[in-house]
Amino acid sequence: MNIQKDFFLYQAQTTKFAAGFEVEKAEGSYIVGKDGRRYLDFVAGVSANTLGHSHPKIVNAIVEQATKYLHVMVYGEYAQEMPVALCKLLAESTPAPLEITYLVNSGAEAIDGSLKLAKRYTGREEIISFKNSYHGNTHGALSVSGNEFHKREFRPLLPMIDFIEFNDENEFYKITEKTACVIMETIQGAAGFLVPDPNYLFNLKKRCEEVGALLILDEIQPGFGRTGKLFSFEHFGIVPDILVMGKGMGGGVPVGAFMSSKEIMETLSYSPKLGHITTFGGNPLIAASSYATLKEVLESGLMDEIEEKECLFRKLLDHPKVQNINGKGLMLAVNLGSPEYTLEVAKKCMEKGLIVFWQLYRNEYLRISPPLTISLEEIREGCKIILDVLNDN
Ligand SMILES: Cc1ncc(COP(=O)(O)O)c(C=O)c1O
Repeated sequence: MNIQKDFFLYQAQTTKFAAGFEVEKAEGSYIVGKDGRRYLDFVAGVSANTLGHSHPKIVNAIVEQATKYLHVMVYGEYAQEMPVALCKLLAESTPAPLEITYLVNSGAEAIDGSLKLAKRYTGREEIISFKNSYHGNTHGALSVSGNEFHKREFRPLLPMIDFIEFNDENEFYKITEKTACVIMETIQGAAGFLVPDPNYLFNLKKRCEEVGALLILDEIQPGFGRTGKLFSFEHFGIVPDILVMGKGMGGGVPVGAFMSSKEIMETLSYSPKLGHITTFGGNPLIAASSYATLKEVLESGLMDEIEEKECLFRKLLDHPKVQNINGKGLMLAVNLGSPEYTLEVAKKCMEKGLIVFWQLYRNEYLRISPPLTISLEEIREGCKIILDVLNDN
């Protein structure tokens, strides 16, 4: 079987230029290709592999659950050990009033669920989102994403959404008594890992409270420790009304979730009942993987190492061809000046055994989002490859 040929023939494509890289196996910070080569992974499945590839604790948790039972019922009917343990540990690990978790299948579904929850709780219709934001690709998540290029062929999308400028408090007047929610990526991902100014989130939350709008924070990328805190809002002294997570919370399996207070969340269970339903949300296999990931992130001390690892990246990548480095912790975006050059660098890095990527909207930014478990030695090894490529090209 020619996997690459069949990939292009039978599997739907997202672009006309997929890499089609063939994977044999993956372990720790490395992916082993069918070509027999080991590739150091600075991308981690686009921020999904929090603990690296095939972490033994995750694999064991999945195998243990698989030997007991797989899917037994749709979400929300049976009390199953792993999803309950995950929701409980999330409640214990996040500040009040975040206490109840709704488990779903993907980040985009979690975004859709959070928007429905905000509308249902407030009884309002308007939504404020941000220019250059990315929240996923379902109709709802695409509607609140702030990039016209990716939306225009799919209209009509959700109505009554306005977009404000990230980090610009002058636009707060658009958040009014008619606003159900403001939805924001705490750190804007596709836009090149933009971090909010120190007081911005505090003032945004204050404005939301003044007018009775809910603040939804999309932590699908920073979630589970990537910035040195379990969620990145913890750096900014506020707590959102609704917290959305996905990607890295699964440790390598498909998952999403949104959290809020009991008072807000319970509005999804009446008038109408079944306000959001899903077959596979809270699946025990997925929950086992996510629970093992969360426990390890909380207990391993990994989050305490993030700052040192970020500093090392920033120090090693100080090079004349690097214009600036955005981001926080192990979500870094390295500006190489032009999309063409960044693509070339990524390609050359791959030839030398290093996987890097670029940011979705800002292709001139090289994406660095390795597993949190990456060692200092592996950071040095990968950065040397980037520097060699920058020097030679
Ligand atoms: C910030 C953010 N929100 C939402 C999503 C959508 O998540 P998913 O691809 O699991 O639907 C992503 C995925 O990249 C994301 O980065």
